[in-house]
Amino acid sequence: MLRSVLTTLALASLVSSSSTKCKCTYSQSCFPSTAQWNAFGKTLSQPVIQGQLPMNAVCFPDSPVYNEAQCAVVTAHVVDPPFITEQTNALGFVNLEALVVNGSVQYCPRPYSPGETVCDQGRIPKYAVNATSLSDIQKTLAYARLHNLRLVVRNTGHELIGRSGGSQSLELFMHNFKDMTFYDNFVPAGAPHGTQGQSAVTLGAGVQWFEIYAAADARGKFVPGGFSPDGTVGAAGGWLLGGGHSVMSPFYGLGVDNVIQFTAVLPSGQYVTLNQYENPDLFWAFRGGGGPSFGIVVSATYKTHPNPPITAVFYVAEANSQDSYSALLTTWMSMHNQIADAGWSGVWPFLDNSFYLTFFTPGSPPYNAAANSTMEDFFSASRNISGVNVTLAMSKVYPSFQAWNLDNLVNSQYGYGFNWTAGSANTTASSSWLMPRNLTAPGNAKLLGGIFANMSVAVPYMVGGGEVAKVGVDETAVTPAWRTAVSDMTVLPGFVTGGAAGLTVDTLNAMYESAFNQIQPLRELAPPPLGGQYLNEPDMLEVNWQAAYWGDAHYARLLGIKKQIDPSDLLLVKKGVNSEGWDDELLCKTS
Ligand SMILES: Cc1cc2nc3c(=O)[nH]c(=O)nc-3n(C[C@H](O)[C@H](O)[C@H](O)COP(=O)(O)OP(=O)(O)OC[C@H]3O[C@@H](n4cnc5c(N)ncnc54)[C@H](O)[C@@H]3O)c2cc1C
Ligand SMILES: *[C@@H]1O[C@H](CO)[C@@H](O)[C@H](O)[C@H]1NC(C)=O
Ligand SMILES: *[C@@H]1O[C@H](CO)[C@@H](O)[C@H](O)[C@H]1NC(C)=O
Ligand SMILES: *[C@@H]1O[C@H](CO)[C@@H](O)[C@H](O)[C@H]1NC(C)=O
Ligand SMILES: *[C@@H]1O[C@H](CO)[C@@H](O)[C@H](O)[C@H]1NC(C)=O
Ligand SMILES: *[C@@H]1O[C@H](CO)[C@@H](O)[C@H](O)[C@H]1NC(C)=O
Ligand SMILES: *[C@@H]1O[C@H](CO)[C@@H](O)[C@H](O)[C@H]1NC(C)=O
Ligand SMILES: *[C@@H]1O[C@H](CO)[C@@H](O)[C@H](O)[C@H]1NC(C)=O
Ligand SMILES: *[C@@H]1O[C@H](CO)[C@@H](O)[C@H](O)[C@H]1NC(C)=O
Ligand SMILES: *[C@@H]1O[C@H](CO)[C@@H](O)[C@H](O)[C@H]1NC(C)=O
Repeated sequence: MLRSVLTTLALASLVSSSSTKCKCTYSQSCFPSTAQWNAFGKTLSQPVIQGQLPMNAVCFPDSPVYNEAQCAVVTAHVVDPPFITEQTNALGFVNLEALVVNGSVQYCPRPYSPGETVCDQGRIPKYAVNATSLSDIQKTLAYARLHNLRLVVRNTGHELIGRSGGSQSLELFMHNFKDMTFYDNFVPAGAPHGTQGQSAVTLGAGVQWFEIYAAADARGKFVPGGFSPDGTVGAAGGWLLGGGHSVMSPFYGLGVDNVIQFTAVLPSGQYVTLNQYENPDLFWAFRGGGGPSFGIVVSATYKTHPNPPITAVFYVAEANSQDSYSALLTTWMSMHNQIADAGWSGVWPFLDNSFYLTFFTPGSPPYNAAANSTMEDFFSASRNISGVNVTLAMSKVYPSFQAWNLDNLVNSQYGYGFNWTAGSANTTASSSWLMPRNLTAPGNAKLLGGIFANMSVAVPYMVGGGEVAKVGVDETAVTPAWRTAVSDMTVLPGFVTGGAAGLTVDTLNAMYESAFNQIQPLRELAPPPLGGQYLNEPDMLEVNWQAAYWGDAHYARLLGIKKQIDPSDLLLVKKGVNSEGWDDELLCKTS
């Protein structure tokens, strides 16, 4: 029989009815005193961080933590992801720290400009537990429950609508769970006697892609993972819980298709193992239901793959008018599905009348015999468009994906084409849409080429099809749209233009509306569940997020599990499962 904690919880949820209307906030008498925090800290592996101010407070002369030397340090690293991921008091983009109160924006501007005087707390938690043990996690959940505190879970802080921060909250900082253990013959817990072991790696919740890419490569292995400057995205936290796409996904599947076991702490504090044999319902919910709605990941075990050489393509074309830009994008779309079917994957950003490819196919020469000529056909076709100047069209073989990663995402001076490390920003707004294969078919090339030419900054990922399309729609919780999409269209209009100073309700809204509006034609052409939104590339303004992230059928199942597993609403997150009827900061029930 399958073992499952849900059976026991179903009974418990009948008796423990729902929580209070509001969480306990800092100024209320229900909120723990300094002495209580001190006493709590003595039960943890290190004291609770109390009263922390936003990272950039050290730059504000009126701040109690003003410090010129420390200000120089944070200023030097103001948009530096490796630095930001280590901090408990900063999110990846400063606009995500902004709290809108009665029509004005409260936040601590970053970087500091002389003359600025106001550094507000914004959405940065004042209290943080820097967890380093299982017991720290369990005690933090129990403490938050006991005192009715809003709890936020933070790994790298990369999340794009601020889910890893929160006003009036206690932060559980998961960055320091850095264990990596490789297995030649991993057998999931509870598997029938005689189950064949497989090559696998168990990662602590705080491991980042740059770490596992290097460790796996050193062993001649590979795990498909995220794509970011320096590889700072988390490998076992939010990325995975939301689905996890990789430029290697067409060859190996999404993150959720590669994870074979989790260990996790449930909202009840119970420490459990989740896999196809133990707690299979929760294992399903963890694979796409979004973090931290169903519990805190302590570790994730991935299958590992062989580590073949990679043929990479770098391409840049510039158009001299809106018409030639649109023609270039149309030509690309007329070949888009064919390129994927010929064994290619990658990212195809376009902005400012320029179009780029950073593309991959395994093998040297490519395992797929059609890869070379199909891509060369696109190169030739694009060279034929009047008003389009192809300035780079090359291929280069790397001995492994990690070799490509080191030269292009880490030491990018050795890279080609689109410069992935030059684009860091203070502020961001994102939106995305998973485009079904029949929408990206040649017959719609002109339609999409025209729509795309109107976008400001697009970073579409060709990460679907292939192995992603072979997984059954109901095997994991991700939207069924993932199984029919070839590309995930992502727009990041705030990415290059955003200054940090003087954020106002109007500048924030303009950025968020721009992202929402640029994706709107795709929402209309492919509504859920045929199309959908990747919940890790979320839109601040998405309204029907339940259908967009999961489709109605998956959402109904997730909601049922969530109500059993978290009856007192301990782990809520913006546009997360069962967050309906709460305010934006998840502090009070509004209905
Ligand atoms: C520069 C950049 C590049 C990106 N590249 C990719 C990419 O290539 N592919 C892709 O799919 N996505 C990509 N993303 C999106 C990425 O998947 C999301 O930002 C994701 O939320 C990051 O997860 P994290 O754990 O690193 O970040 P965090 O912001 O720390 O966490 C994200 C969410 O997960 C929760 N969470 C974190 N850790 C845990 C845990 N241990 N247990 C339970 N819940 C937890 C948090 O509460 C939060 O809600 C990128 C984002 C950025 C900013
Ligand atoms: C917002 O404004 C209202 C009306 O002026 C006031 O009652 C309330 O206290 C204000 N809220 C905050 C958080 O300042
Ligand atoms: C968190 O704890 C780790 C391990 O003790 C330590 O190295 C790190 O500096 C701490 N971080 C913060 C922000 O306190
Ligand atoms: C490029 O244009 C020429 C002249 O119109 C045409 O003969 C040729 O077939 C075109 N090549 C491609 C790849 O479209
Ligand atoms: C095309 O690009 C190259 C390299 O940037 C440049 O030297 C050349 O002048 C451009 N040609 C046109 C017609 O824009
Ligand atoms: C195709 O193969 C040729 C010969 O090896 C090579 O020069 C070219 O760069 C390849 N093109 C692509 C798109 O891989
Ligand atoms: C990309 O940008 C980074 C940061 O600005 C720079 O160091 C690097 O040299 C650039 N790479 C290329 C190939 O121009
Ligand atoms: C794609 O196919 C589905 C049915 O499978 C259909 O409902 C939808 O309209 C099609 N979309 C496009 C853009 O052709
Ligand atoms: C592009 O934007 C312009 C100006 O807003 C608009 O007139 C046009 O219809 C848009 N084109 C497409 C294909 O959406
Ligand atoms: C960050 O904000 C500052 C101040 O508004 C601005 O000058 C700078 O260009 C921004 N940097 C980026 C990378 O957006």
